[in-house]
Amino acid sequence: MTSMTASHAADLVAALLFILSLAGLSQHRTSRAGVVHGIAGMALALAATVVVAAQSITAGAVALIVLAMVLGAALGLWRARRVEMTQMPELIAVLHSFVGLAAVLVGWNSYLEVEAHGTAQTRIGADLLGIHHAEVVIGIFIGAVTFTGSIVAFLKLSARIASRPLMLPGKNALNVGALGVFVALTVWFTISPGLPLMIAVTVLALALGWHLVASIGGGDMPVVVSMLNSYSGWAAAAAGFLLDNNLLIVTGALVGSSGAYLSYIMCKAMNRSFLSVIAGGFGIEAPSGRDEEQGEHREVRAEEAAEMLARASSVIITPGHGMAVAQAQHPVAELTRRLRERGVEVRFGVHPVAGRLPGHMNVLLAEAKVPYDIVLELDEINDDFADTSVVLVIGANDTVNPAAAEDPASPIAGMPVLRVWEAEHVIVFKRSMASGYAGVQNPLFFRENSSMLFGDAKLSVEEILHALGSNDDHGPAPGTRRATPVRG
Ligand code: TAP
Repeated sequence: MTSMTASHAADLVAALLFILSLAGLSQHRTSRAGVVHGIAGMALALAATVVVAAQSITAGAVALIVLAMVLGAALGLWRARRVEMTQMPELIAVLHSFVGLAAVLVGWNSYLEVEAHGTAQTRIGADLLGIHHAEVVIGIFIGAVTFTGSIVAFLKLSARIASRPLMLPGKNALNVGALGVFVALTVWFTISPGLPLMIAVTVLALALGWHLVASIGGGDMPVVVSMLNSYSGWAAAAAGFLLDNNLLIVTGALVGSSGAYLSYIMCKAMNRSFLSVIAGGFGIEAPSGRDEEQGEHREVRAEEAAEMLARASSVIITPGHGMAVAQAQHPVAELTRRLRERGVEVRFGVHPVAGRLPGHMNVLLAEAKVPYDIVLELDEINDDFADTSVVLVIGANDTVNPAAAEDPASPIAGMPVLRVWEAEHVIVFKRSMASGYAGVQNPLFFRENSSMLFGDAKLSVEEILHALGSNDDHGPAPGTRRATPVRG
């Protein structure tokens, strides 16, 4: 078998491993196998690339490639070991920006190579030069939009800049105009390529990527992350065309299409228009900015919360980003176990965008060994809140905000939320009256049946466990299983 045939076989096996990886990652039980398939596919792809490259380049160049791979692997391992679960979305955004930047560099390199050597010394036939020029600008455009878009996403997700949408006057016209100018520049470049046009396309795409993501509000960031994931896939596929690398084209298309599908699912879950979000919040008006407090709130202490729970017949726990920050999943799982032992029906209501990653809460609850069958999705549990004694809102905010259902002027209006306020009592675990990720105040905190349990969620749940323990010492909770109102 020639080395080319072996490399094509390796590409094919690696592509199949990536498909198996995606299939595995779609379910909890098979996700580990999915990760292993992905690692195996990537290792094979890298090995095949180096072996093929070694045939046509100098030993020094091969040594440089190996050095870059070792450095990249060491950096990747170092970051992966240190990153907190709550920082994963930021890390993913940074990684997407690398793919975008790589696509821009590949595009520039490909153009400069043809400029320097003409078509004679490259793989491109003179008759295909026009197509090559179009590939160059399209690759650079997608890469540059992904690059700056991902940097803004990183800054927003890590709270280095405000998550509120940037509302430049005529923002939709700016986006549509930039797209029109790009099409015109592509045609121009294909007919008569030149350095000033390359610079113009790059600068335009960098600015558009920045503006597109900056214009999207915090509540819609989940869609942005998956959308940038999709863009990074298309950027990689574009680089694959320029490098004549079939595996990169296949892998890019897999990432691009699965990211696009995930964005579509997220939009459906959040009742957002897919096209509006990918067009930088097209058609979304400036938010009303009502984030001031809306009345009096009640406070409850851990001992009182324990008493309410001990008397409850049914409890629903709705976890959110704060549970991840506090790493409260283990005491929450212990609380669940203790309440169930007492005969209380305990279930979890998980919002599709709770936390900062798709499936974030499911991963944390699985890690704490909460049984799968009591972890329900929004649609499965939303009608049950009205018959529930106590809801524990553990570090969730936007995903339980009644304004989404009741205030058409709210920036999160129309987003389906967990209707926790329909329960008899709601206890909200958080550290202050601060708003959630979308920057919108939550009227839930001021409802008659809501009480705030201030403090770090992990400590608060541990205090409740402690109080329940002392109750247990005095025998099971007496009498009725209905919770009593708490006055703050
Ligand atoms: P958020 O609206 O983000 O609110 C989390 C709450 O947790 C905050 O109000 C915070 O209040 C509280 N908190 C933080 N640390 C805490 C701690 N140690 N102990 C107790 N409470 C703590 O949460 P959510 O309901 O999960 O909503 C998720 C939001 O993120 C949505 O807007 C969603 O669109 C967005 N988002 C989601 C994703 C994905 S894919 N899931 C990706 C990007 C963005 P205090 O500061 O007062 O404690």
